[in-house]
Order: sequence, then C-alpha cells, then structure tokens
Amino acid sequence: MTQIFAVGGGKGGSGKSFISANLGVMLAKQRKKVVLVDLNLGAPNLHTMMGLNNLKTGLNNFLNKSVKNLSLTVVPTTIPNLYIISSVGCSLEVGNLFYSQKLKIIRAIWKLPADYVVLDLGAGTTYNTLDFFLASHQGLSVFTPEPTSIQNTVQFIKAVYLRKLKHILKRHAFSTAIKEVEDEADNGVVRSPLDIVDSVMRSDPARAKLLQKELRKLKFKLILNQYRKHIDETLGNKIEKVCNRHFYSQFQFLGNIAYNERVHESIIARKIFFAKYPYTPTSTDLKNVANNMTGRNVQTPALKETNAKI
Ligand SMILES: Nc1ncnc2c1ncn2[C@@H]1O[C@H](COP(=O)(O)OP(=O)(O)O)[C@@H](O)[C@H]1O
Ligand SMILES: [Mg+2]
Repeated sequence: MTQIFAVGGGKGGSGKSFISANLGVMLAKQRKKVVLVDLNLGAPNLHTMMGLNNLKTGLNNFLNKSVKNLSLTVVPTTIPNLYIISSVGCSLEVGNLFYSQKLKIIRAIWKLPADYVVLDLGAGTTYNTLDFFLASHQGLSVFTPEPTSIQNTVQFIKAVYLRKLKHILKRHAFSTAIKEVEDEADNGVVRSPLDIVDSVMRSDPARAKLLQKELRKLKFKLILNQYRKHIDETLGNKIEKVCNRHFYSQFQFLGNIAYNERVHESIIARKIFFAKYPYTPTSTDLKNVANNMTGRNVQTPALKETNAKI
C-alpha cells in the first residue's frame, strides 16, 4: 500500500521543502519508488531543491484536463526511484483551488503508483494546506528552535486538530456539539479545539469514547530542523510529551536535523543537498529521520488509515 507523508508546519522558511526533497532521496535510497508532490500551490520551488528546471509537465496538466491521470504528470529526477510532480506550471491563482479541484487532487494522489508519496506543503493554515495534511498517513510538522517557529507549529497543529474534530463531529452526527460550535462562531466566540473536545465529553459522555478513538487516529510526526549545538537536545521530545498530554492524537518526535551552511550553498548551486554532501551530520540526521518514518529504527505497526477520510 502506498504511504503518504505530508510535510507541513505553519511557518515559512522552517525547511519543509528542503526536508521533503532530501527525505525523498533517503526513501528512494531504500529502493522504494517515491513521488514528491509540490503542493505549495502558488509558490512552488521543490523542483529547484531537486536541481530541476524547465519542467514541461506537472500538476497544471492534470488541473487543465490535458491529461486524465495524475500519474501521467510524474517526471523523473536525477536520483533513481525518485520522481516529482511539480506545480511550477500552474496558474498564479492556483492557491485558491475550488473544493472540487482539491478533492480531485487528493483522490488522484491516493492512487499514485508508488511506495511513498511525499507532499511538500506551503506555510499557513488555509483549508487547502490542512486538508492535504489530513490526507496523509503521517503528517510531518517541521519547526526550528526559534520560539516564533514553535508558536506557529503549535498553531498549525491546533488548526489541523480543529479541522479533523469538525470532520468527526459531522461524520458521527454530534449534533449538539456542532450547533454549539456554529452558534459560537456566529457570535464571534473563539474556543480552542481542546475546549470543544472537553465540552463534547461533558455534554455527550456516552459517545466521548468514540470521539477520543477517532482523534487518536490522527498521527503527527515532529521534526526539529536547523538544530544548533547550543539548543537543548531534548527540546523536540519535550514538545512531543506536552502535545501527547494535551491532545487526544498521537505525536512522535522523529529527530533533530542539524543546521549546516552547506544547505544554503547547495540551493544556490541548484544541487540536491544529500547528493552533494552525503557525509555531513545533517545528512546523517536526515537518514535517521527517514528510518524513523519508515519504522526502520523502531517497530511501528503497519499504517492502515489515512489521517482523514475525505
Ligand atoms: N538544516 C538546515 N541548515 C541550514 N539551512 C537550512 C536548513 N534547512 C533549511 N535551511 C535554509 O532555510 C531556507 C528555507 O528552507 P525551505 O525548505 O525553502 O523552507 P520552507 O519550505 O519551510 O519555506 C533554505 O533556503 C535554507 O537556506
Ligand atoms: Mg517550501
């Protein structure tokens, strides 16, 4: 079964595209067929991280219906087993997808013939980004040690959680809770998703277990990028612990990825970082994170469900 990883995390510049590209390389080196999909719609640059330019084929061909099947927009990269669907040729307005177009893309991604699909998402918490994140088996949240980045990642996690929570409330007809949330929104009241869960637990205790069970299916993976030596090495583990305590979903810290000036150099040179500098601490970290993702370092149960059913 194809496993889909989404790389998101709220803040721009934290390294989502760098990590998508290089994790793609690591996964391809595990002799798996990997497709990278640039879903930073409106601001695509994953192809540049992969050292590719002048791409003639991509997501635009699928959106403008010149091809029926998304798999026909897949282009090989310079790395064996690694392919890309770029959104570089899409219209400047593609960031504002229609709901039906978003569903069409998600359903087509689920059918891509690959072992792994890596979705590189844009910054922010728009519904497109949240729904692409929720369409994955594992959602990776990338942040740096700066407090602004951690704040944005927590905000991103809360936004994903709220979107998932609303899906669950609708799918399982928690009608009192839905009415409460809608009335509050009409009156300009902002409640955190954690408060909403608590109040559903109180108002509908008989079905609280169902809600908890559904939220538990949501899996977040955390990656701390641009790690520098003076930073607490256990920061990521601490954030994992806090999240697991406060949310009903599952959080796993996958590891630190060291800051390295050569990342900048490789992007300027339009070369894939891992291919140019395979023997750096940053590359070792990337390998370690990829092994954690695919369960090579620890035993993880096979993934059966995506984060959301759309
Ligand atoms: N591990 C790292 N070490 C050094 N610089 C990094 C690292 N990861 C990312 N960067 C820098 O951060 C910039 C933004 O990365 P990018 O992947 O484009 O972020 P995002 O996709 O989250 O907006 C890169 O151009 C690069 O210069
Ligand atoms: Mg990016």
